[in-house]
Amino acid sequence: MSQNGAIPRHERVLTVDTMNPNVKKVEYAVRGPIVQRAVQIEKELKEGVKKPFEEVIKANIGDAHAMGQRPITFFRQVMALCAYPKLLDDNKFPEDVKNRARRILQACGGNSIGAYTTSQGIDCVRQDIANFIKRRDGGVPSDSDNIYLTTGASDGIATVLKLLTAGEGRTRTGVMISIPQYPLYSAAIAELGAVQVNYYLNEEKCWSLDISELERSLKAAREYCNPRVLCIINPGNPTGQVQSKQCIEDVIRFVAKENLFLMADEVYQDNVYAEGCEFHSFKKLLFEMGPEYSNKVELVSFHSTSKCYMGECGFRGGYMEVINMDPDVKAQLIKLVSVRLCPPAPGQALMDLVVNPPQQGEPSYNTFIKERTDVLRDLAEKAKLTEEILNTVPGISCNPVQGAMYSFPRIDLPERAIKEAEARSQAPDMFYCMTLLEETGICLVPGSGFGQKDGTYHFRMTILPPTDKLKILLNKLKEFHEKFTKQYS
Ligand SMILES: Cc1ncc(COP(=O)(O)O)c(C=O)c1O
Repeated sequence: MSQNGAIPRHERVLTVDTMNPNVKKVEYAVRGPIVQRAVQIEKELKEGVKKPFEEVIKANIGDAHAMGQRPITFFRQVMALCAYPKLLDDNKFPEDVKNRARRILQACGGNSIGAYTTSQGIDCVRQDIANFIKRRDGGVPSDSDNIYLTTGASDGIATVLKLLTAGEGRTRTGVMISIPQYPLYSAAIAELGAVQVNYYLNEEKCWSLDISELERSLKAAREYCNPRVLCIINPGNPTGQVQSKQCIEDVIRFVAKENLFLMADEVYQDNVYAEGCEFHSFKKLLFEMGPEYSNKVELVSFHSTSKCYMGECGFRGGYMEVINMDPDVKAQLIKLVSVRLCPPAPGQALMDLVVNPPQQGEPSYNTFIKERTDVLRDLAEKAKLTEEILNTVPGISCNPVQGAMYSFPRIDLPERAIKEAEARSQAPDMFYCMTLLEETGICLVPGSGFGQKDGTYHFRMTILPPTDKLKILLNKLKEFHEKFTKQYS
């Protein structure tokens, strides 16, 4: 013991030298050093420190409510009644809200949302999800036995990757992920000690996915690991693209031919804005392609309460649907999720409302439709605005934001700025984003946190700030880019 009672570092059982090395490899740029600095700057502003700006504008994370989006009334009314059932006697709440709260409560142990649920998720919620999928996919059947509620999509993705990770050295599981990627994937792969296998999206063709690139990536990976999984995010994060029907069918043919497990991250399925773009679920197309594929391809698709028009990230609700999974593996999956007892019951209840919203003729229907339409229309406008303003800046090029909640513009950085970043041991786009934050208060995430082709630089920004703030942000960004380019040219 030292004099002040603290254990000296060398005596501790757990130190950074003795801890799980896989955890040290985990990185998550979305909440990385830029965001930590942004929080510090906010504190400094509150303490009266003078800055060239009055507030920090955060466009680093896809958290709609944190950016001012209002919750959907029906969802919160039902959740309020579930949390505090005495409100069922209050005549301020419409009858359909009360009926839905009663139905959820009746499905909970002791009629309380505070009880553990079954590990796979509440039965009637899984049934509602299966009905939703069938409706969404034009009648393709869905079995509630294949539905697992999750603690947000993150939990489901990490759990499935855990099932898939095996082998040592050259037989270690390789996980194919898009570059740029959402860093949950690289983080989960690092934590599990699996092998990250990159395939690049085609920036020149609006971040589309070329099968020839998948073939290249797979062939190269087979030299050093055992690639067994292909992960696709559609609509995409951070790139905002919506993959075409043709592309998804080609991916299904590719995984069938190469014997790969397919993980489809479809959390942005309602966030499609661009004309001519449409969301096609992997499940639907798989079944439309006939039994040759639908009896063979092992697919898991993920959805969440966090995105779309709901943006209810904090409830940690989500589900996954597993198709063609070996029954013995399903038993192992049930065992694995049982260890965690259950996903949060309020998250499950909210997921139920998302898949089973008010119906025409019910008292809450009109308000619900109006609120949902308003949010999606706003996002579509902001997607267009972002692309338009960014493309007026010399040295920034931005693909159309077809869907999801992000743009991932490419930035030209002068040679001297790159040298300056190197001198500071920073990635050039990290240096750019850090300088932007210090000078303007705008908080973005450098492209290097998502992966990008060598020699190219990007940043990711969300389109979530309210329109007036987004305009300020984009114009400040424009000014900054011009100044930064001049300064380092
Ligand atoms: C593509 C993608 N998948 C999964 C997630 C995680 O979502 P959840 O909040 O449901 O865990 C996100 C969150 O931003 C995401 O962008």
